[in-house]
Amino acid sequence: MLTVENLTVQFPGRHGTFTAVEDVSLSIAPGEIHGLVGESGAGKSTIGAAIIGLLQPPGFVAGGTLHLGDTDLRSLTPTQAHAMRGARISMIFQDPQTSLNPLMTIDDQLIETIQAHENVSSSEARTRAVDLLEEIGIENAAKRIKAYPHQFSGGMRQRVVIALALCTNPELIIADEPTTALDVAVQSQVLDLIRRLAQTRDIGFLLITHDIGVIAQITDNVTVLRGGKVMETGPTDKVLKAPEHPLHAIPDGCGAPAGPQAGPLSGPRQRQARHCRPRREIRRRCRGLAAWR
Ligand SMILES: Nc1ncnc2c1ncn2[C@@H]1O[C@H](COP(=O)(O)OP(=O)(O)O)[C@@H](O)[C@H]1O
Ligand SMILES: [Mg+2]
Repeated sequence: MLTVENLTVQFPGRHGTFTAVEDVSLSIAPGEIHGLVGESGAGKSTIGAAIIGLLQPPGFVAGGTLHLGDTDLRSLTPTQAHAMRGARISMIFQDPQTSLNPLMTIDDQLIETIQAHENVSSSEARTRAVDLLEEIGIENAAKRIKAYPHQFSGGMRQRVVIALALCTNPELIIADEPTTALDVAVQSQVLDLIRRLAQTRDIGFLLITHDIGVIAQITDNVTVLRGGKVMETGPTDKVLKAPEHPLHAIPDGCGAPAGPQAGPLSGPRQRQARHCRPRREIRRRCRGLAAWR
């Protein structure tokens, strides 16, 4: 369904061009939850933004192809890209506050979104909105739909954001750190919901996270990103049980290219490396690896 091939994203700057994502390939089938994991700055959000056509200027796709089904996402006009975001691809962010309007009741927000994409009456949109809230696990939805976002807990708000993302029956949902702001128990419930939606609605998810626990809990396949490059990709079980890049492969510096061919660091990566603490990172990775097994 989604096919990303050799994606490269660059940010031109005063001190040269920074390659945030380099030669990244991945594909997501309907109903698949594909994890994209890596430390902060690895390029995860940039990949999500490139797919959905919302790269922040001056960032641009410098190479590669992006397809959703037969649609070439790179060839879309801005109007077509906007329509695509509405209809076939949805996005969920870490902080529900960025997706919800605090001044509007939940029902108004859902009804507005449904009506923006489909020519249905208000009462039909309302029925659909209540059904959606029930589907995502909000009890007594007909009554609670009249609440404002602040009257819901963080976990419930994130469920509402998921309901908003579902309004248009998307084929693909890009979820960027969707549970990072939530308590562990609530996080688990939201992940279960995502798993259920992938199964029942056959939606493909690109689940972006820095948390290997989240990857282990719900993803089918995973792509491990480091310094903008794919370190590893494959079925989650396989990648977590036998990482091809164990600790000895960690380069001496965040964001540094790995392997014998790696050249000297330059530009933003050099500045980044100067600020990083490899030892601390290795200890953190050790704990991460222990948790994988
Ligand atoms: N608008 C931008 N301008 C310049 N550099 C950017 C911009 N957005 C992201 N980057 C750079 O791209 C790299 C990847 O960022 P990002 O995709 O946000 O990482 P992640 O989501 O994995 O934490 C970072 O080094 C970041 O500094
Ligand atoms: Mg990010």
